[in-house]
Amino acid sequence: MGRSKTAKFADNAANRHLLQPGKPLFNKLKGKWNKLYFHNDNDIVLELACGRGEYTVGLAREFSDMNFIGVDIKGARIWAGSQQAAKENLINTAFLRVHIQNLKDYFSNHEVSEIWIIHPDPRPKNSDERRRLTCPRFLDMYKQLIKPGGLMRLKTDNTGLYQYTMEVLQNRPDVHILNATVDLYKSTLLAEHYNIKTKYEQEFSSGGNMIKYIKFYFKGHL
Ligand SMILES: C[S@@+](CC[C@H](N)C(=O)[O-])C[C@H]1O[C@@H](n2cnc3c(N)ncnc32)[C@H](O)[C@@H]1O
Repeated sequence: MGRSKTAKFADNAANRHLLQPGKPLFNKLKGKWNKLYFHNDNDIVLELACGRGEYTVGLAREFSDMNFIGVDIKGARIWAGSQQAAKENLINTAFLRVHIQNLKDYFSNHEVSEIWIIHPDPRPKNSDERRRLTCPRFLDMYKQLIKPGGLMRLKTDNTGLYQYTMEVLQNRPDVHILNATVDLYKSTLLAEHYNIKTKYEQEFSSGGNMIKYIKFYFKGHL
């Protein structure tokens, strides 16, 4: 039997890889992740809606000269990645348990080099558009956080979210779309995913659905 939610939350409280309210460093890291947490000057990459943090852990194993931070609000999910990071002593990882819409409280402008958004909730209702992680207000925030030319990547199984995001991006004069595919597993772009599949994707793609992927950057900066 797996660990209970209560046990996971106790693990989270004790895990130095997990930053959440109550932790000593939690409110001190804005603009200081390199100095106070990673103790290096390496690039910082975010995985948003990280769930169990498969990309954060997987990319951290591949790139020991970069830093990776998984962001999600659900403590019982983020537990998995942060436990794995602790087990492997992946010192180039962190997990941040906050609402993504509040990222500006935790990162300074241009503090981040790259952002991956992995299987975010599609939020198909029109009334939920503002909650989609690729809606204009979220893109405006990412543009402030990311360094000039920093890569943005979206991976999704959801056709509606893919089409919506393409439309939003194509309507923005400040965005350059580098690549977009509706079938990642038939694309050469698959190589840049290092065989990483999230739990959600493993469950979803067993149904044979196609995974979509968009890579873009912001042309102009504030
Ligand atoms: C469909 S799950 C995907 C999780 C993981 N990326 C995967 O592929 O298995 C979406 C995740 O986004 C998180 N999430 C959704 N909206 C969020 C928000 N505004 N702030 C923080 N996390 C959010 C949820 O808690 C959930 O873990």
